[in-house]
Amino acid sequence: MPIVPTRLDFTDDGTPWSDIFGDVYHSARGGVGQAHHVFLAGNGLPARWRGRHRFVVLETGFGLGLNFLATWAAWRSDPQRCARLHFVSCELHPFSSADLERVHGRWPEFGSLAHELRANWPELTPGVHRLHLDDERVTLTLYFGDARDGLAQLDLRADALFLDGFSPARNPDLWSPRIFHLLARLAAPDATLATWSVAGEVREGLRRAGFEVEKAPGFDGKRQMLRGRRTATGMTNPADPGSTIATERRALVIGAGIAGTSIAERLSARGWRVHLIDAADSVGEGASGNHAGVLRPLPSLDDNRMSRLTRAGTLYGWRHIARLAASGHPVRADASGVLHLARDEAQMDKMRAVVERLALPPTHLRFVTATEATALAGWPLPLGGWWFAGSGWVQPPSLCRANVAAGGKAVQRHFGCRVAELERRGDHWHALDADGNAIASAPVAVLAAGTAIRDFAQAQGLPVVSARGQVSLLAADDGSAPRVVVCRGGYVSPAIDGLRCAGATFSVDDDEPSLRSEDHAENLDKLDAMLPGYAAGLDPTTLGGRVGFRPASPDRLPMVGAVPLALPVERNTPPHAIARIPGLHVISGFGARGLVWSALMAELLASQLEGDPLPLTRDLCEAVDPARFLLRPPITGRIDE
Ligand SMILES: Cc1cc2nc3c(=O)[nH]c(=O)nc-3n(C[C@H](O)[C@H](O)[C@H](O)COP(=O)(O)OP(=O)(O)OC[C@H]3O[C@@H](n4cnc5c(N)ncnc54)[C@H](O)[C@@H]3O)c2cc1C
Ligand SMILES: C[S@@+](CC[C@H](N)C(=O)[O-])C[C@H]1O[C@@H](n2cnc3c(N)ncnc32)[C@H](O)[C@@H]1O
Repeated sequence: MPIVPTRLDFTDDGTPWSDIFGDVYHSARGGVGQAHHVFLAGNGLPARWRGRHRFVVLETGFGLGLNFLATWAAWRSDPQRCARLHFVSCELHPFSSADLERVHGRWPEFGSLAHELRANWPELTPGVHRLHLDDERVTLTLYFGDARDGLAQLDLRADALFLDGFSPARNPDLWSPRIFHLLARLAAPDATLATWSVAGEVREGLRRAGFEVEKAPGFDGKRQMLRGRRTATGMTNPADPGSTIATERRALVIGAGIAGTSIAERLSARGWRVHLIDAADSVGEGASGNHAGVLRPLPSLDDNRMSRLTRAGTLYGWRHIARLAASGHPVRADASGVLHLARDEAQMDKMRAVVERLALPPTHLRFVTATEATALAGWPLPLGGWWFAGSGWVQPPSLCRANVAAGGKAVQRHFGCRVAELERRGDHWHALDADGNAIASAPVAVLAAGTAIRDFAQAQGLPVVSARGQVSLLAADDGSAPRVVVCRGGYVSPAIDGLRCAGATFSVDDDEPSLRSEDHAENLDKLDAMLPGYAAGLDPTTLGGRVGFRPASPDRLPMVGAVPLALPVERNTPPHAIARIPGLHVISGFGARGLVWSALMAELLASQLEGDPLPLTRDLCEAVDPARFLLRPPITGRIDE
């Protein structure tokens, strides 16, 4: 369902008002007072987060972000605060950043925090958006969509619940028995709740869902409010991540391509110490060594899992690159825009239909005619297609370098070290070289060795396939056309440091490491099909290029999470009931989209290891769970891009 943003409006007394719901966003007596009295004090905050590593707040409606800002500010000013604050909230009709700016101006006490929130405010696209704030000590996870879907799909343990919809009469969907049961399912055993509503059906609904509730004095001294606590008989979350959460924050990561360096960076940002091991002498020497690759989503009419995952991966991936740059570790990358051209009129019609159906913000995806496409590419084109204005190209080795640099001293590098075997002794994994000497050991091991994952005995159940790819490098003046990425069957980058990257071939189980001129010819054919006449005069026998071996998976989705024991399981076994190898995790299967997956998949795996709220809906986490292959018959057909 497309996201329909709301517009800022006010009542005559200046209280923010929703035209959609016909109600005010907060009490006319003051939003900040309500946030402190009802939601913070009602949940025993700040006292309850003291002495804890992490505290998780779950809210039903994000609105203006006032409760969030008040919580963040209270947390900041508390010297005894927990180390990490997670705030998770749903919003069906989010505000634009411009509207937020107008309303946030009313609360100067939140000035810099509100500014930071808006600077990170995501595109208004459906699904989960994860924002890292306050030097990564505060994580905001926003679900844009209906809370009835979001709460069913989020994976977290909430310590405090903020029930903040419009009034039950105007907004019954946020106060239904279903919502209360979903909240109970996400509540930690000692979770508390608070709300300003004392409506009889709210109290009764919460009781039935497994909360004990009591009335308390309301914040304006006149009204009442509700406080509650989860009871022992409350529902439990069936997918309790307890078994995979690490107790000691140390890991060894095998492979320093974009998969390995990304998880090393995400773990180090959480205070982990990481041994990063690679057989090569530096990062990005395997499949992640190309001059440039494309970071963009893959939309579809039914917004299928691939579409939702690539959208989330693209948005998070560009935010990750921006964050690395802001922390002094710039990545050679540019959101130059990506033009995906139709191959014929029929496909162009389908592409137009996808854009109309998804109704995504035009800054993310829009349809362009042949004339517009010609102007964007700077080259005469017969057809239009998709324009991803916020997408572009990335140089993978520079992303690897920036990830490792951001990890700083927490990431200990072991380069030029090939791991011959991974052995579990007691509570630790030991990475052993060919002589049986330990390169490093840690309680947690992460396999990020690309196609070489297949060499590890523990990963035999993971169907990683090697897909050889060759790119061609074309000499080009910087600033020459096209200045955007153009795709259609293949892709061509803008000129980057005097070279344009055109690709790519895709051949499964083809181990030839040297360049082939027939592959260059194939790349030139793709280039000429995209940009008619562009390849004229280019000789495939004289071109430079690069060969890499993509770690592909049969369903083109990555493999991220705890490695399963390669044992047969019943078809309907829920993922959390599948036996896993203790302390062993994988981040691989990136196939032709490593740039799209790396940052978000690393954030997912780090969240799983740390027991944080997950940055994706449950269905998408399951779509990338490495155990999924045990639940279905192997895919025997052709594996493609
Ligand atoms: C030609 C081509 C074009 C591509 N274009 C794009 C694109 O446009 N957009 C996009 O998103 N993606 C693209 N990709 C895909 C992307 O590059 C890959 O998905 C990604 O690089 C895979 O990263 P990785 O870290 O899993 O593997 P790798 O980069 O291969 O890293 C694995 C690392 O493990 C190390 N290793 C292996 N075995 C051991 C061992 N036993 N001990 C220690 N270290 C070991 C290797 O030395 C290597 O450094 C392309 C890939 C190719 C080949
Ligand atoms: C009272 S306002 C929340 C105010 C907010 N907590 C704040 O601090 O600014 C209620 C919010 O719930 C949102 N909402 C209403 N129904 C929803 C639903 N079904 N799913 C998600 N959000 C919903 C509204 O759009 C609105 O932003």
